[in-house]
Amino acid sequence: MNEAAYLELFERARWEALARGPGLDLFRRHGVWPAARRATADYLLPAFPGDVLRVELETEKLGRTSLELHQRATRIRDGALVAELQIVFVMIDGEGKPIPIPPEVATVFGGRLTSRPGELVRHEVGDVTLAVDTRGDGPALLLIHGFPLDHSLWAHQVAALARWRRIAPDLRGAGASDAPDSGYSMTTYADDLARLLDRLHIERAVVAGVSMGGYIAFEMLRRHRARVMGLILADTRADADSAEARQSRDSMIEVARTQGAAAVADRMVPRLLGRSSQQTQPHVVEQVRAMIGRTPVPGIVGALGAMRDRPDSTPLLPTIDVPTLVLVGAEDELTPPAASRAMASAIPSAAMTMIPGAGHLAPLEAPTAVTRVIAEFLEALPRP
Ligand code: MLT
Repeated sequence: MNEAAYLELFERARWEALARGPGLDLFRRHGVWPAARRATADYLLPAFPGDVLRVELETEKLGRTSLELHQRATRIRDGALVAELQIVFVMIDGEGKPIPIPPEVATVFGGRLTSRPGELVRHEVGDVTLAVDTRGDGPALLLIHGFPLDHSLWAHQVAALARWRRIAPDLRGAGASDAPDSGYSMTTYADDLARLLDRLHIERAVVAGVSMGGYIAFEMLRRHRARVMGLILADTRADADSAEARQSRDSMIEVARTQGAAAVADRMVPRLLGRSSQQTQPHVVEQVRAMIGRTPVPGIVGALGAMRDRPDSTPLLPTIDVPTLVLVGAEDELTPPAASRAMASAIPSAAMTMIPGAGHLAPLEAPTAVTRVIAEFLEALPRP
């Protein structure tokens, strides 16, 4: 077999893999075409008539618009590697312009984008890897947790909002995501999430944030407005820290550095949860304590600095032109209902709902009520 024959063999193997799996029209159905941009072939041994070869195909790298495949041809008789090919494709549209790889195509080529219950998928987003709970199909709903918590704050909503593609990441420095020593600000959190949407091939999402998640949602509006098709602001506020609040961020940084995450949990749990939850839901108290206890100290310190230095988002409110839901626990002492009311009234056409019996972590303290309110809001949105 000469070199041209090997290339033909590899190409035929790729098409046969498509025919056996998703169908030969995989690309056409999505209006895309994989254009080969670079290939490196190694011919290691000659093959002769009568030699039977096995061709294996592996995805080496799955980028936003590009796909790198590795093919190996081995001789069945003795397992010897006879040739291999490394080939990079760029997904192009009808005009030859690179476009994001459609989710189905990405899934076919091994880039599993969806997690199974109880499992997180890790996605590289620039200089960090985020652990992400992502489930289901439909329009995207990005669920951003608060401080010093993780994606499980949204567990009930992730499990229940079945008609939506739910994406609940651990932010940098939280849960199972990377926790670098530096690089924390509202800007980096928002950029990480925009990159995560890129990675998942999502153009636009409804963005929901609890507390610090809301501060990040504001930053996404400032930096990535085109990605936001709706907004859910839960137990959060628009104004920046007062001088006193900034000082208490610095004391909490000191506590985290010198005494660790458990000491932060001791101070925060009584403030995060509403009176009713503290009296009647001991399992929630334990869950929140454990969640904070797992948060890496660099992530706690980083988030406190990022919140301390965040800009005032009040001037943004009148410019918000996507459907917005404001919700708040009636017993929220950190971002009390009055702050939510003021925020909702400054956003044109925002609706506000108060959740009885819940404090600052309403999605976890009153999961059924919060899920119902969010489901009603989502169902009323025009489907993209
Ligand atoms: C949060 O829940 O994210 C924080 O309590 C917000 C804050 O401290 O400002």
